[in-house]
Amino acid sequence: MAKILVLHGPNLNLLGTREPEVYGRSTLADIDGGLTAAAKSAGHELQTFQSNAEHALIERIHAASAEGMAWIVINPGAYTHTSIALRDALAGVAIPFVEVHLSNIQAREAFRQHSYFSDIAFGVISGFGAESYALALDFILRRLASH
Ligand code: DQA
Repeated sequence: MAKILVLHGPNLNLLGTREPEVYGRSTLADIDGGLTAAAKSAGHELQTFQSNAEHALIERIHAASAEGMAWIVINPGAYTHTSIALRDALAGVAIPFVEVHLSNIQAREAFRQHSYFSDIAFGVISGFGAESYALALDFILRRLASH
């Protein structure tokens, strides 16, 4: 049994009603529910955490290390493009992570095309809507099964 942590950054609590033409109509509860069930049926434990506060996300990452989390899936939201502190937290705990975005950030405004996370991520999944999270988890579950 492995532990997997899914982190959602700022404004992702508004999913479902926030710019649905960009981010889709799934709510955060829909996404978290699907991920939790998929991990459980594969015999693993998945926890989820959303915050609009940078420090809270950083503290959750620090705690993940002590809790023995094997993988992190993170959608840093707008912190993707601004937060060296969040990047340093992930580098500091050295837990492998997958960076996820609902939208294809490379196809959007110039300020969204740079990520402080991608070069230290295990991989990046961007542009598949809520499915981006499911694809990231699928990869992690397959990887856990084969290692
Ligand atoms: C996002 C893309 C970011 O640019 C934006 O600030 C978000 C969501 C995405 O999932 O597509 O909040 O990370």
